[in-house]
Amino acid sequence: MNHLDFLREGLRNIKTVGTITRSSQALCKKMTEPVNFDKARVIVEYGAGDGVITKHILNQMHKDARLLAFEVNQVFYPKLQEIKDERLDLVFESAEDISSILAHYNIDSVDCIISAIPFVNLTEELSFKILNNAKQVLKSNGLFIQMHYSLLERKMYKTIFGNLQINFEPLNIPPAFVFVCKKTN
Ligand SMILES: C[S@@+](CC[C@H](N)C(=O)[O-])C[C@H]1O[C@@H](n2cnc3c(N)ncnc32)[C@H](O)[C@@H]1O
Repeated sequence: MNHLDFLREGLRNIKTVGTITRSSQALCKKMTEPVNFDKARVIVEYGAGDGVITKHILNQMHKDARLLAFEVNQVFYPKLQEIKDERLDLVFESAEDISSILAHYNIDSVDCIISAIPFVNLTEELSFKILNNAKQVLKSNGLFIQMHYSLLERKMYKTIFGNLQINFEPLNIPPAFVFVCKKTN
């Protein structure tokens, strides 16, 4: 998908897409840096868009690992289907349904979740639901990694996970924060 098509989709669905530009290569790198790819065998991505972070994850993933990528946008989803990799399963459902989707794939728990969902545009109720459900399926010490364009939402992560590390990536339009939470209890 070219930049103009992404821009058009971002403008058409600004509430759910949350941006008009896909993540830069620098931001993709920063989003995947905290992941231990030697150990991770089940990775989940929320808000895969047209697959820019998806490809970064797949490039670093163990050959026996699998990636479940969630996306709800009907223009982006066919773009994800163009990625040919046996380790990738695409899910055309909202992230809040993670538990039933994992049950469908016979997966008990996941090593990490990498998310670009624009929580700032969601209701507080839905945001909490998605994050609580995510925490529930993470393994002990599993990571929840989330991009944000501001620090407005940081309290929500501390409330749910009890911890939050914030990294910053200036080389993105707009510059972005990468929130990293660990499931410790
Ligand atoms: C900021 S875009 C990120 C796209 C891409 N990952 C990137 O980094 O360029 C956010 C994406 O989250 C998707 N999204 C929004 N709400 C979602 C939900 N509840 N479940 C899954 N995906 C969702 C949107 O359709 C959009 O593609």
